Amino acid sequence: MGKNILLCGFMSCGKTTVGKKLAALLDYKFMDTDDMIIESTGKSIKEIFNEGGEVLFRDIEHETAKKIQYLNDCVISTGGGLMTYQRNVDVIKNSIIVYINTDFEVCYNRLKGTGRPIVSSKTKQEMWQMYIERIEKYKKVSDFVVENNGKPIETANEIFNLVKDL
Ligand code: S3P
Repeated sequence: MGKNILLCGFMSCGKTTVGKKLAALLDYKFMDTDDMIIESTGKSIKEIFNEGGEVLFRDIEHETAKKIQYLNDCVISTGGGLMTYQRNVDVIKNSIIVYINTDFEVCYNRLKGTGRPIVSSKTKQEMWQMYIERIEKYKKVSDFVVENNGKPIETANEIFNLVKDL
């Protein structure tokens, strides 16, 4: 059984779109950590934030990160914050980590109006600050970095070629 391909990157960088295409190319199952959270709690991400703030969300997210070691042959899209916490990185096993690097303006324009709790109270400047800080963390933990400013299928193909013989 093969290792998982775990995708990390900023919100709206294209993890889900690229991930689904990559899963099809590899004939792997596509998983999303936010969906795993929704499934295990029966609540939306917004409801969790409303109930216990970011602290509660990050604790649930950490429990979800621990489950990844038991998966095989999956492409896993992670929430934008997950791989920026060392305690999550420490429990990720059995996975090749790929950072999807998409320009800030592209992410920002896609994010506007999506109502993500982590974004709602932030100015563009604050988002930029968060983007810059997170880039370093994503790069540090990743086996590969791919750019995703063009067609998602091209990015998926690029990752496929990087991981297919590993
Ligand atoms: C978050 C990103 C979201 C979700 C939550 C927090 C973040 O996932 O996990 O709202 O801190 O960047 P996406 O990256 O899929 O938007």
